[in-house]
Amino acid sequence: MKFLLKPEFDLFVDRITAKAKEVKNIIQLQWGELAVKPPLDTIKFFKESYDHGYVRYTTPHGDNSLRQVLVDKLKRKNNVNVDIENILVTVGGTAAINFAFRVVAGDGGYILTQDPAWFGYSGIAHIAGAKTIKAKESEYSYELFEKIYKKLKEENKELRVIVLNYPANPTGHIFDVHTLKEALDFSEDYDVLLLSDEAYEDFVFKGKHVSLGSLRGLDKVVSIYTFSKTYAFTGLRIGYAVGNKDLINAMAVAQVHTYISPPSINQYVARRILEEELEEPFVKKNLKILQKNLKLVMDYVEDHTWEMIEPKGGIYAFIRLPGIDSGNFSLKLLEKMKVAVAPGIDFGKNWRDWIRITIARTEDEIQEGLNRISKLYLEIIST
Ligand SMILES: Cc1ncc(COP(=O)(O)O)c(C=O)c1O
Repeated sequence: MKFLLKPEFDLFVDRITAKAKEVKNIIQLQWGELAVKPPLDTIKFFKESYDHGYVRYTTPHGDNSLRQVLVDKLKRKNNVNVDIENILVTVGGTAAINFAFRVVAGDGGYILTQDPAWFGYSGIAHIAGAKTIKAKESEYSYELFEKIYKKLKEENKELRVIVLNYPANPTGHIFDVHTLKEALDFSEDYDVLLLSDEAYEDFVFKGKHVSLGSLRGLDKVVSIYTFSKTYAFTGLRIGYAVGNKDLINAMAVAQVHTYISPPSINQYVARRILEEELEEPFVKKNLKILQKNLKLVMDYVEDHTWEMIEPKGGIYAFIRLPGIDSGNFSLKLLEKMKVAVAPGIDFGKNWRDWIRITIARTEDEIQEGLNRISKLYLEIIST
């Protein structure tokens, strides 16, 4: 039988994670998860949800009381003014991105992503029936978007979505307000959707996160948020999209025919987390840890002959080890040194000798992980 999607893993990082699960005492720096546990209070919310009978399907758009609390959160934290009709609660930000891609570009339309980009976008686009192209995030501008749009048009292809992921995975890049406004100008002139992926909204090292939807509303914008990173709760699988009502309604159709509605209990827990405003002290504490770890990594990189893009936010360090083939290096690193990292090649073909490590583990793990990376790197370049 012919499969339209390959059943094998197509990313090195997935193969590495699968292998890492079989080996004991591994230092896991490959994944975008905080090492800390979610806020303690969440335990009682799960029980509460059952006691309150939250065990049924919710509406395809998500539970209305959660959506209402999200309206308040968006106003309070993001300066984005919306109604519940503008919100779709999904199974993680991943599903929200999937539905947006499907609805807007699922007939072979093009999606522009950053270079390097989180490997999720190309995989999601592929499944959704869309195609991706990449451009350097530092060059994002009206001029660049127009050039790409026109070039695609000449080839009878259509640019439908521009992804602005900030703070970015893997580089920690943050778009300044000027670039965000140029993207908005372009989207209005050319009717192209802007997808702002704000999964790392709470991890900004200097200043405050500026949400794209706070600048000129949501006419040409869909913004993606998640509980995964802010609350160290990747297993909760609750995210949400915020956009204009027509787009959100179309995305809800995709959602209902995928899994009907997100898990009711998890939506209840997400609501209670927001109602109790658990994030402030929790995030502050984690941000401090990240900044301390980042300094450790940057000093280490400086002391060696490596290169690094200094992140302005996020939970990663993207590091160049000149000369390596990151796929093979990462597999060897796992086998010989028991350290798991994400190879740069998963983020685009221009990043062959880069690796991504998370800075959201303990200081000891990161220090030891770097020592082992250095040991293998020295072995490789001296042979
Ligand atoms: C940039 C970015 N967007 C979205 C996601 C999706 O996260 P989730 O589906 O857990 O909400 C991730 C996960 O790593 C990410 O890095």
